[in-house]
Amino acid sequence: VDAVIADLKPLVEPNDIIMDCGNSHFTDTQARIHALAADKIHFVGLGVSGGEKGARFGPSIMPGGDVEAFKIIEPMLTAIAAKVNGKPCTAYMGTGAAGHYVKMVHYGIEYAIMQMIAEAYHILKIYAGLTNNELHTVFDGYNKGRLQSFLIEITASIFTQKDDKTKADLIDVIKDTAKQKGTGAWMSQDAMAIGAAIPAIDAAVAARTISALKNDRVKNAKILQLAITNTKQIDKQNCIVMVEAALYAGYIITYAQGLAMLQTASTNYGYNTNITTVASIWRGGCIIRAALLENIMEAYEADATLTNILVSPKFVKTILTDQASLRELVQLGAATGIPLPSLSASLHYLDAFSSNWLPANLIQAQRDFFGAHTYERLDKEGVFHTKWGE
Ligand code: 6PG
Repeated sequence: VDAVIADLKPLVEPNDIIMDCGNSHFTDTQARIHALAADKIHFVGLGVSGGEKGARFGPSIMPGGDVEAFKIIEPMLTAIAAKVNGKPCTAYMGTGAAGHYVKMVHYGIEYAIMQMIAEAYHILKIYAGLTNNELHTVFDGYNKGRLQSFLIEITASIFTQKDDKTKADLIDVIKDTAKQKGTGAWMSQDAMAIGAAIPAIDAAVAARTISALKNDRVKNAKILQLAITNTKQIDKQNCIVMVEAALYAGYIITYAQGLAMLQTASTNYGYNTNITTVASIWRGGCIIRAALLENIMEAYEADATLTNILVSPKFVKTILTDQASLRELVQLGAATGIPLPSLSASLHYLDAFSSNWLPANLIQAQRDFFGAHTYERLDKEGVFHTKWGE
């Protein structure tokens, strides 16, 4: 990007606009905005999602930066963006690097949802013993219901793809190691920096990292032969139903984490991002498009002060019902030794998020004990220190 900017520099004049439609890190975008502002050049960091199909038939487009520049490019973006019920999947995301920041949140949600679907596949294949044809039927069925989403849709179709070379099911010929360009990790890194909790996304990044250690895993499996006695007995049909509900809860909890982080970031970096608008432009064209986004959009529309969709009346009933399946699935994973990192992290987030007491008093006590870091009390304002053990 910097090389292209250097090439363009002699050709542009004040008030010209340079758009970066690539997957740039938001801090690079911020630095470029700043550097080009000195010459009165508008630099627009613009997130695009949609893959090859989106490029041809309309992606979701997330522009940020100066409003004046946005106004000029808006008609072009509106014309090429995907449309949902006639509405374009593009809108102003906020000041500065907001466009690339929103795209970064999109990556993280994408990572967690892909991971949770993979975890569902793990349970359905290994525990329930579903064949690829059955997996196709199950995911196709999921896609006809409330889980309807691009990632479920392509998952259903993956299970029917044959390999040209061996004529086997292609999925069974693909190595079980996931690659990553690091975009999910960007979100985890910034979540740590701004104090946002996105454990389902962190777990998805770590899961890809562990998957890539295939040689180690194969060696370790010979040494660590975990003796797991599975006493759980769930029939195939019940398992399919349980996985659907658990996945739906996992979807909600993942969007909840991503959008709550985006809200924190918007305040932190002064983006002024409208979360309803973000949910609205993710409904079409992009990789994380899902029927659920319609409800998310309505939840934010109904309450402008909403900080987390988990407490929206739109979701409370569903979460209270489907958490039981998520819990059951996570228990099944633990009982059978099938790792479910993102689904488990989602459940733990839900449990912690809705808990009126957490053992953090002990953490405070430990910090004060070993480092005189002080602690707060329930009965008095202020910070306190104790000479522990004396
Ligand atoms: C999209 C995708 C796309 C790509 C990312 C993630 O919305 O079109 O997010 O940008 O999937 O680059 O790639 P990695 O999985 O390699 O991090």
